[in-house]
Amino acid sequence: MPIYLDNAATSHPKPESVYRAVDHALREIGTSPGRGGYRRGLDATRIVFGARESLAELFGIKDSSRLAFTSSATEALNLAIAGMLRPGDHAVTTTMEHNSVSRPLRLAEKRGSSITRIPCDRSGFLNPRDLAAALRADTRLIVLSHCSNVTGTVQLLAEIGHLATKSGVPLLVDAAQTAGVMPIDVTAMGISLLAAPGHKGLLGPQGTGFLYIAEGLELPPLVVGGTGGHSSGEEQPEEMPDRFESGTLNTPGIAGLRAGVEFILSTGIETIRKKEMSLARHLVEGLGRLRGITLYGPAPEKERGGIVSFTVEGRDPAMLGFTLDQEYDIEVRTGLHCAPWAHRTIGTYPAGTIRVSPGWFTTDQEIETFLSTMHEIIKT
Ligand SMILES: Cc1ncc(COP(=O)(O)O)c(C=O)c1O
Repeated sequence: MPIYLDNAATSHPKPESVYRAVDHALREIGTSPGRGGYRRGLDATRIVFGARESLAELFGIKDSSRLAFTSSATEALNLAIAGMLRPGDHAVTTTMEHNSVSRPLRLAEKRGSSITRIPCDRSGFLNPRDLAAALRADTRLIVLSHCSNVTGTVQLLAEIGHLATKSGVPLLVDAAQTAGVMPIDVTAMGISLLAAPGHKGLLGPQGTGFLYIAEGLELPPLVVGGTGGHSSGEEQPEEMPDRFESGTLNTPGIAGLRAGVEFILSTGIETIRKKEMSLARHLVEGLGRLRGITLYGPAPEKERGGIVSFTVEGRDPAMLGFTLDQEYDIEVRTGLHCAPWAHRTIGTYPAGTIRVSPGWFTTDQEIETFLSTMHEIIKT
């Protein structure tokens, strides 16, 4: 098996319980939630409800019906951004965002909203004071990623949430790189909208994700249609979560996601975080000892996510990634990682970086093998 170091794209492998849950939902349950009143239909409904409850427990969400399943973090972010911003509204974001945030914002801008992009420093860090200074009377949304998918830089979310609450501006957090690996409590952190994928740190399958919408926030759905219930109404129901869940849900995916979240709850998020930190430290220290390497992101003593990005003097990141795969069976990501703004911020545009992202199942031995391989490649 190759050494897989691209968990920031999709986590792999998954816990055994995730494979079993997907297989069970597909093979034994088969039916769809909220549709048939027969017993297996109700079992499907229970699976989806259970997943909602487990996610609510993990993120400090008091009412699990405020959480709508989506096919990805991207869909959740589109739903939140398109729903919150009307022509004439102002939104604040950063220069470290993934295209899943920056493109929906660009679209909103073309439709008449105005966007302020606050520059982050060369390590990708946003100074909350700059955010405070960018807020205006017409600011309707603050949107940012908790942790950069390029540099692993973690923003001061609790402080930003406090600022958002104080100024009465809803905060939308892209938790693509932290959901399942760092503690997030929407209530304590002042988060109004939380978007996350199911297939990364939450250890579920691809094709899953969710958006949490705080009580009191009204936004229109992106997609309308059949919701299973309320069938007599000509218009989309107001009730959560049906309002945002038109069409048949991905029950096998959500069953797997539920198993992934239960694995996280039983392992403990602090244990997962500790392991991620230890692997990242191993990588940063090891790469830091190699000749000609430039590391990006937070200084070693600062808080960070598990992602480590670097370049090698005089070498093309894409070619290095190709060599790692073809000659050494090591899978890393190279290039811009769907975040061109972030690379302009850290000075690696347009070639990008080599990004290494271990996951829960990565071992120290695998990191050692990667480091000694890099040593060998650089020597030649
Ligand atoms: C920071 C960030 N935001 C959003 C996304 C989009 O996630 P998804 O592909 O599940 O829609 C990613 C995925 O790489 C990401 O890293």
